[in-house]
Amino acid sequence: MVARRQGRHRGLRLLLHVYMHKGIFMTRDEARAKVIFALDVESFADAKHLVTLLSGNVGMFKVGKQLFTAVGPEIVRTVRDAGGEVFLDLKYHDIPNTVAMASLEAARLGAKLINLHALGGYEMMARTVATLDREFSGQERARVLAVTILTSSTEATLREVGIEYPVAEMVVRLALLARKAGIDGVVASPLEVPLIRAACGPDFLVVTPGVRPVFAATDDQKRVMTPGEAVRAGADYLVIGRPISGAPDPVGAAEAIIQEIMAC
Ligand code: C5P
Repeated sequence: MVARRQGRHRGLRLLLHVYMHKGIFMTRDEARAKVIFALDVESFADAKHLVTLLSGNVGMFKVGKQLFTAVGPEIVRTVRDAGGEVFLDLKYHDIPNTVAMASLEAARLGAKLINLHALGGYEMMARTVATLDREFSGQERARVLAVTILTSSTEATLREVGIEYPVAEMVVRLALLARKAGIDGVVASPLEVPLIRAACGPDFLVVTPGVRPVFAATDDQKRVMTPGEAVRAGADYLVIGRPISGAPDPVGAAEAIIQEIMAC
């Protein structure tokens, strides 16, 4: 009797998990939390304007190498002061100690997501995670993502640097290495999400750029998915820039993306 009830509960939990994973039951806030807006601008004023405009319509702001190099860490504090979260996309790749210490500073700034190149190797990734865990023991710390193979790289790019394996094989191999080192997830093309999910399980974060809502142009992105498709494929976060910043009404565009995610 008890066993049957437990079995039924397990079944219901599984169904709930499947529904939530598919986006059914997703609230507006849950859908909004999945949208990371890429702050790909060159000035502090432009960045601040977009942060103020979009704070209620996206879950996070991505600060990349261009903006960070131009205006410095103050932009991270500015986003945080406006109530926003930050993905500090600086893709560290260096000797283990240097990456661990740079990551520590990024985490101290209050970034929620930071990243490094998995090609830097196991020790570089494991040392970074251990350093953050030591500093933030018991408190919430920045989640660390690994970049596997850049989506701009092809088989030919890999061969140039002496890697003879297919891209998809390298992506999975590096994602597994990152997970073994304690890394929290990966940045990946939407098309790679199912492969990574199958290899690394449901708790490994997957963040995908290359997302284009049905209303937007594809720009220079070659292999795209819509927000709904990417979430259905298992993406936890979507990085979206120009479909929002280049829209006549950026707030309306962000809102349409949220609706697309909720309906998926
Ligand atoms: O404007 P768009 O939506 O294409 O912006 C996507 C963001 O994600 C940009 O900041 C871009 O640099 C980044 N990105 C990407 N493809 C990758 C990795 C990062 O488009 N493979």
